[in-house]
Amino acid sequence: MVLPSIVGFAFWRDPIAVGDSIYDAVPWLERSWSAMAESRERFLQGSEAWYSRNLSGIDGCVCELGCGFGRLLVPLARRGVCVHGMDASAARVAAARELFATLGSGESTFEVLRMPEVPRGRQFDAVILALNAIGYVRTFEDKVTLMRGIASILKPGGLLLMDQRRGSLLLRLVRRWPGLKGKIAQTTGANLVSGLRWDSSASGIRETFELQAADGTVQVFHDTFRFCSVSATLRMLQASGFRIERCDGGFSGGAFRPWSRTIAIVARRTHDTDPGH
Ligand SMILES: C[S@@+](CC[C@H](N)C(=O)[O-])C[C@H]1O[C@@H](n2cnc3c(N)ncnc32)[C@H](O)[C@@H]1O
Repeated sequence: MVLPSIVGFAFWRDPIAVGDSIYDAVPWLERSWSAMAESRERFLQGSEAWYSRNLSGIDGCVCELGCGFGRLLVPLARRGVCVHGMDASAARVAAARELFATLGSGESTFEVLRMPEVPRGRQFDAVILALNAIGYVRTFEDKVTLMRGIASILKPGGLLLMDQRRGSLLLRLVRRWPGLKGKIAQTTGANLVSGLRWDSSASGIRETFELQAADGTVQVFHDTFRFCSVSATLRMLQASGFRIERCDGGFSGGAFRPWSRTIAIVARRTHDTDPGH
């Protein structure tokens, strides 16, 4: 989840191998956070409120890349907005389909797709790239491909909302940082503990999750993230045909400052962008 601090750096080496993702094993992970540390819950609720607030004027179709079970799309679907989610995890896409079938609201589509691929076949009024999703795309070239892909699926003037966690020099210095800790679901009684560490061979952040079942069996999962600096992200957006409208220093609002631990970006596809570039 990369909740604690994350890194800003401009260059990295070759792609790295990653273990099985926690998201396949626990498709409803964010739901269980209410049983975890309060700060994590606040962080999640803050992200929900920030995305909802910034999407309040949107009536056309909204696409989320790395949507999980569709947590951030639920408020939109509830007010009848058409939603399209994609995620690399088939288990999460199945969870999203199950959840949205119960909402009985407007049009909703979910597909298994891996960024930097983007859904094709329609143009959206807004795209969401939430909770450090940019970090899952690990090479600079793929991040550029992703940004251009997003510009190409947005209508001219369409909105891109994204966030990126920072603070990372610290992680490089201390090398390890605690992550999530708590019961994954009251019913199963499984415990989840995660930790972040700076992985020099990957020039990135590796989050290791240990899931301990009630019978004591332990399963280990890994996710690896690579971030570029905030200034590199903003330059990449501009080069891909976005105008930056606002940078918040977190989900509770307030302008971004050099010491902010999160940047939450509101960008708009310019009308003169050629998505084929
Ligand atoms: C931290 S979760 C956030 C989910 C959702 N955005 C939310 O806020 O509830 C990150 C999601 O990204 C998905 N993911 C990771 N790498 C991906 C990739 N390359 N392409 C698409 N989805 C990816 C994971 O399966 C997971 O569901």
